[in-house]
Amino acid sequence: MRIDVVSLFPEFIDQCAAFGVTGRAGERGLLSLHGWNPRDYAEGNYRRVDDRPFGGGPGMVMLIDPLRAAIRAARAAAPMPARVIYMSPQGAPLTQAKVRELAAMDRLILLCGRYEGVDERLIRAEVDEELSIGDYVLSGGELAAAVVVDAVARLQDGALNDAESAAQDSFEADGLLDCPHYTRPVEHELGGVPEVLMSGNHAHIARWRRMQSLGRTWLRRPDLIDEAALSPADRRLLDE
Ligand code: ADE
Repeated sequence: MRIDVVSLFPEFIDQCAAFGVTGRAGERGLLSLHGWNPRDYAEGNYRRVDDRPFGGGPGMVMLIDPLRAAIRAARAAAPMPARVIYMSPQGAPLTQAKVRELAAMDRLILLCGRYEGVDERLIRAEVDEELSIGDYVLSGGELAAAVVVDAVARLQDGALNDAESAAQDSFEADGLLDCPHYTRPVEHELGGVPEVLMSGNHAHIARWRRMQSLGRTWLRRPDLIDEAALSPADRRLLDE
């Protein structure tokens, strides 16, 4: 998969390619990341990329032309068609289902805004979709784009090691929060480890983990329970 990021700070995106699962996906040839700076496509001595908003008000708005030229350069850099996504708090919420959809694509172009936003005409003409990573405002789309890159990279076939993908499956499969995890030592000044995890009884362990996942989701994120893939046995546990 190829991801192009249009940003005034393309070095930010280079950092994604340097570490962890995203870095490994790059090394394994599963993901290639490319930054495009609209300033490189701006005219004049000052290479201006923004201007004051019509109608007044604080902040600056990003100009159409440098952004459009950067998006077009990114599009032209590879033959596969790309979905262009503008990262913004006005976008649809990013969910794991959306991440799965994006991870299956050959190519994405992520557009990061700065200042107060981007000229609306550019969004209408060039953008296929707007995505938000949450109901808060960041000073730019770069962190949001990094979130998309990370979430999509780890779903590429072969990006995760076996142990990591097993952990991922439980969340992916049923939409519940994960259960608590423990490792050595058994006795610690911070407390012990639940007996059942050391019982060697796999059915009991699986049931305990399921109850923990259900309980945590019910307490912390009741909104997820309605959407989760629950068995009749799960429903009975929740009704108790
Ligand atoms: N840019 C600024 N805030 C954002 C958010 N919450 N999600 C995506 N992009 C953003």
